[in-house]
Formats: sequence, structure tokens, C-alpha cells
Amino acid sequence: MFHLPITSLTAQFGDIDIYLFDQLLKGRIQKGIKLLDAGCGEGRNISYLLQAGVKVFGADVSESAITKVKLLAHELAPTLPARNFIVADLECLPFEETEFDVVICSAVLHFARDENHFRSIVQELWRVLKPGGMLFCRLSTTIGLEGKLQHLHDRFYQMVHGPVWFLADETLLKDLEIQLGAVRLDPLKTTVVEQDRSMTTWVLRKV
Ligand SMILES: C[S@@+](CC[C@H](N)C(=O)[O-])C[C@H]1O[C@@H](n2cnc3c(N)ncnc32)[C@H](O)[C@@H]1O
Repeated sequence: MFHLPITSLTAQFGDIDIYLFDQLLKGRIQKGIKLLDAGCGEGRNISYLLQAGVKVFGADVSESAITKVKLLAHELAPTLPARNFIVADLECLPFEETEFDVVICSAVLHFARDENHFRSIVQELWRVLKPGGMLFCRLSTTIGLEGKLQHLHDRFYQMVHGPVWFLADETLLKDLEIQLGAVRLDPLKTTVVEQDRSMTTWVLRKV
């Protein structure tokens, strides 16, 4: 009997975030759509998307990350223009309004400089999203660890593993949803990692 090789999953999907993988399983990311990976880093989340015929764009403030992601894109999707990958701060993106069917932003928002920066980034991601499009964010929050984290000031926390992060809470996410007129596509799902950080998946539809 023929069995599928499990190792080929890694070759196909790389290190894709498991909650983004869940969006693929739900059929919310399809061939031919235009997708922005906001804060793409070196492209851990886009290996499969590049091979699957998604029109991938990426933005990151790090020049070296964009250099690496361009090489990855060239290898996996040689016909995709290198200009799709740009160095930019997410609060000011050089894209037209309503350009993208899907915007993903994974492990980026907790690096916001303050609450205004956090709000500006989310608003900017929303601006470039089409009506009917999906915004997928995965970010560290205080959810599930209320009162257990080392609070410094405002929304900044000293994380056990070293850095100081900006952590949203459910009230801030809800407030933004109301301001944007967003519909929550999935309930908030939060993974608490070893009692030292929370990673929340926040998935919205633009109406
Ligand atoms: C932890 S990495 C995550 C990379 C990728 N999204 C992933 O899930 O593997 C965070 C990335 O966000 C980028 N970043 C942080 N703040 C940013 C901002 N304001 N604008 C653009 N990129 C930003 C960093 O340069 C880094 O590449």
C-alpha cells in the first residue's frame, strides 16, 4: 500500500506557523490571490504560498531579511517580481488602498514602539486590505496571563526570555475591531507558553 511520506510536509510547508496552516486548511488562502506578509522576516511563512501560486508580497523593516526573502522567492517562485518585497515600516506602506485579498502579520505587533504605533500598524494593514479580505495576526498578548507578567509601564512588559514587549489585551483588540468595523472570523485563540508568554491568533474579515 502507498503511504505519503511525512518528511515531504516539511519540504512543502517549511516552518509555517501552525495557526496560518489552519487558515490554509480552512480554504481561506487560494491560488492567484494577492497576499501581503507584513513583517515577513526571512519568509518562514511563505515557502508553501510561493510554491502554491499565491501572489506573495512582503514588507519588513530589516534590509537583510528582505534580501534573504527575495532569494527565497526567486528560488521557489522565479516569475514573481523581486519588487514585491520591500523594506518598510508597517505603519507606512507604499501600497494602494484595498490592494490585498489577505494580509498576514505573524509575530510582529508586540514589537510596536507604543500604543499609537500599534494602532497605526493595524490601521495600515487594514487600509491595504480589500473589502471581503482577511487580516491574520499572531501576536503576544496578556490574555491568559493577566497579573502573572512583569509589568513595566503602559502596555510594556519584561518577558521572562529577555526582551521588553508591547502586549495588547482583549480590550485593545476589541476596541480596534469596533473602530475598523471588522468582523472576527475566528474566536480569539491563545496559546500560553510555559506560563511566560501568550501568543494570540486574531483573524478578521473586512466588510
Ligand atoms: C519575530 S520576526 C517574525 C517574522 C515572520 N513574520 C515570522 O513569523 O517568522 C519579526 C519581524 O518583524 C519585523 N518588524 C518588527 N517591527 C516592524 C515594523 N514596525 N515594520 C516592519 N517590520 C517590522 C522584524 O524586522 C522581524 O523581521
